[in-house]
Amino acid sequence: MTTQHPATAHPLTEGDTPYHKAALGFRNYWYPALKSKEVTHRPVRKVLLGEPIAFTRRGAKVYAMIDECPHRGARMSLGKDEFPGKDTVACRFHGWTFDMANGGVCVAALTDGPDSPVVGKIRLRMYPVEERKGIVWIWMGKGAPAPLEDDVPHLLLREDTMVKSRHNLVYGNWRYHAEGSAGGHFLMLHRDAAALRLQKMGAYNATHDAMEEDDPVDGGRALVEVTGDFRWTAHYPGLGEWPPQRPWRFSRPPSRRGQGGTSIPVNGVKYITMKLPGYLRVRHFPQNGALYYEWYVPVDEDHYDYFQVSLHWPKNPMSWLWTNLWYYTWAAPIRKGLFNDQDKLMVRDNTDWHKRVGRHEPTPLYRPDIFPRKWIEFCNIYARGEGYADTGKAPPQAQQAKPIPTVAGGSGDEPRPKP
Ligand code: FES
Ligand SMILES: [Fe+2]
Repeated sequence: MTTQHPATAHPLTEGDTPYHKAALGFRNYWYPALKSKEVTHRPVRKVLLGEPIAFTRRGAKVYAMIDECPHRGARMSLGKDEFPGKDTVACRFHGWTFDMANGGVCVAALTDGPDSPVVGKIRLRMYPVEERKGIVWIWMGKGAPAPLEDDVPHLLLREDTMVKSRHNLVYGNWRYHAEGSAGGHFLMLHRDAAALRLQKMGAYNATHDAMEEDDPVDGGRALVEVTGDFRWTAHYPGLGEWPPQRPWRFSRPPSRRGQGGTSIPVNGVKYITMKLPGYLRVRHFPQNGALYYEWYVPVDEDHYDYFQVSLHWPKNPMSWLWTNLWYYTWAAPIRKGLFNDQDKLMVRDNTDWHKRVGRHEPTPLYRPDIFPRKWIEFCNIYARGEGYADTGKAPPQAQQAKPIPTVAGGSGDEPRPKP
C-alpha cells in the first residue's frame, strides 16, 4: 500500500524548477575539483557534473580537458606528452596531438604525418581552471567564466589563511546532502558521534528559520540558519524527560579561540550558512577558531564529491604547530571524518528512499524543515542561469527577488513565530 506524502502538493516545490532539473548540479559556477598535489604531469581522470574530465600539469600550469579524444573517444587521461616543453597532449590511440595552451586545437596527427588534413581543424574541449590555495577550481559553465572571486569564499583566498582540504566520492545525489546540512538533525544524528560523546547535548531548538542576506564575510548571496530558544531538556507527556542526563557529558563554554590561539579574523560569521552552487559554511569547525566549508560537487546523479575545506589562522610558529597537531590527531579523523560520515549515511538513505518511492520534498509539517525548503527556493531564485558570463550580471530573476515566505508550521495553517 502506498500513502500520499503530505508534502507533495506544497506550492513551493511544484513544477519544473531549476532546482529539480539540477540533478547534475548548477553548471555556471566554479567548483573545487582536486587538490593541487593530485594533479601531476601524468593525467588524472575525474567525472564532474556528469562529464569525464582529464587534468594534467605542465610546469606551473594546470589544464583540464574532456576525457574523450574527438577522433574515436579514447581517454585523454591515457595520453602522452610527446613534445616535452610544449603544452601538448597526444592521444594514446592514434596520436592526435592537442595544444592545451591554445584552446585544445589539434596541432598534429602523429600516425598520419605532418601534412595531416585534421591539423588546425579539430579542437579538444578544454575547461577553464584556476589553482588557488592548494585547490584546483574548474568552470564547466557556458561561455566565459564568472570571476573566481564570485564563487570562491573570500576568506579562503586571503593570503594569511592556512587551507586544509580533503575530498572523497560519496554515494547519493548532491541535493540530499545540501538539503540535510541544517534544519534539525544535529542534536539527534550526531548525539553519539565520537567527537561529541563527552559533550552535553541539548534537546531541541524551539524555533527555526532561515534568512537570506548579502554575505558580509565571503561575498555573494547566502542563506543563513536561524535557531533560537535552545532547550537542554524537554518533557514529553506519557514518555518522560529527554534526553537522558549522563554524568560523563559536560558542557563547555563556547570559545572564539582555537588551539594555539587561532581565531577567525572577521566578526559576524553566522553559525550555519548555505550558498550556491551547493556548499555549506560552519563556524568553529572542525576546531575552535577555524572556519569550515563543504562542497557537494556533483559527479553523476548518484554520486557527489564531498569536498571538505577548513581555514585556519595560526599566529606564530608555535600556534602553527599546535593547530597542525590538533588537526591531524583529532579534527581531521574524528570530526571531518567520523562525525561527517554520519551525514553521508543519511544522504545514502535519502537517495535510496526517494529512488524507491519517488521524490518527496522536506515536509512542511516538521518545523525545522523550513531550512531545506528555503534552500530549494533560494536555488530557484538565485541559481545562475545561462548567459551570466555574457553580461557579468546576476540573472534577471535574482534582481527581482522577493523575500522567501516563511512556511507554515504546526498543523500546516498557522504562521510560524519569528525568532
Ligand atoms: S582515438 Fe584519439 S587519436 Fe584516435
Ligand atoms: Fe550533520
